[in-house]
Amino acid sequence: MRIVVATRNRGKLEELAVMLGPLGVDVRSLEDYPHVPEVVEDGKTFAENAVKKAREVAGATGEIALADDSGLEVDCLGGAPGVHSARFAGEGKDDRANNEKLIRLMEGVPREKRGACFKCVVALAVPEGRVYTAEGACRGIIGDKPRGNGGFGYDPLFIVPDLGKTFAELDMDVKNAVSHRGKAFARAREIIAGLAAGREGR
Ligand code: IMP
Repeated sequence: MRIVVATRNRGKLEELAVMLGPLGVDVRSLEDYPHVPEVVEDGKTFAENAVKKAREVAGATGEIALADDSGLEVDCLGGAPGVHSARFAGEGKDDRANNEKLIRLMEGVPREKRGACFKCVVALAVPEGRVYTAEGACRGIIGDKPRGNGGFGYDPLFIVPDLGKTFAELDMDVKNAVSHRGKAFARAREIIAGLAAGREGR
């Protein structure tokens, strides 16, 4: 069975190829399908964006497509930055600018009101039209200054209370075991295994 991952990011593709390797799936990316246009992420929810990307790529390639969308929802900011997580500080701004904006907005907010949740939705679309989704969430606390050098995005500000560490202070395998993305992909793997079994049986 072949799956096209809706990304042109080689790092993301390699991570997924490792994860799906044991299922015997042939993992491709949009690098292998240069004619497929960039999908505009204009949905109001992570699910809308993930489903839109997976559907469009399945339609354009005729293959099963996998897409994910993720971000951070901060309680005291009414769920912001949410689907705007990547460009919170503005188009073309980087992770550091996004983190600085978050620190600034939360200045003086007491610890008990600094709750936040990372969310991830993975969508799998088959070319015949059906779409399956898998979700994962991870709750934490937003720190008042960055800690740790690992990871990416908001990792240095996101404290996992049970571990007393930020995502940026955790080894990748520990982060994956508790993270929104790790949980969503564990569920997606089960869906893929089911799809593979179904296709073999045809
Ligand atoms: P996307 O799912 O690739 O669109 O990512 C959206 C944005 O959410 C990223 O650019 C990060 O700012 C943020 N984000 C998503 N997952 C994580 C994570 O595991 N750690 C830190 N930031 C994340």
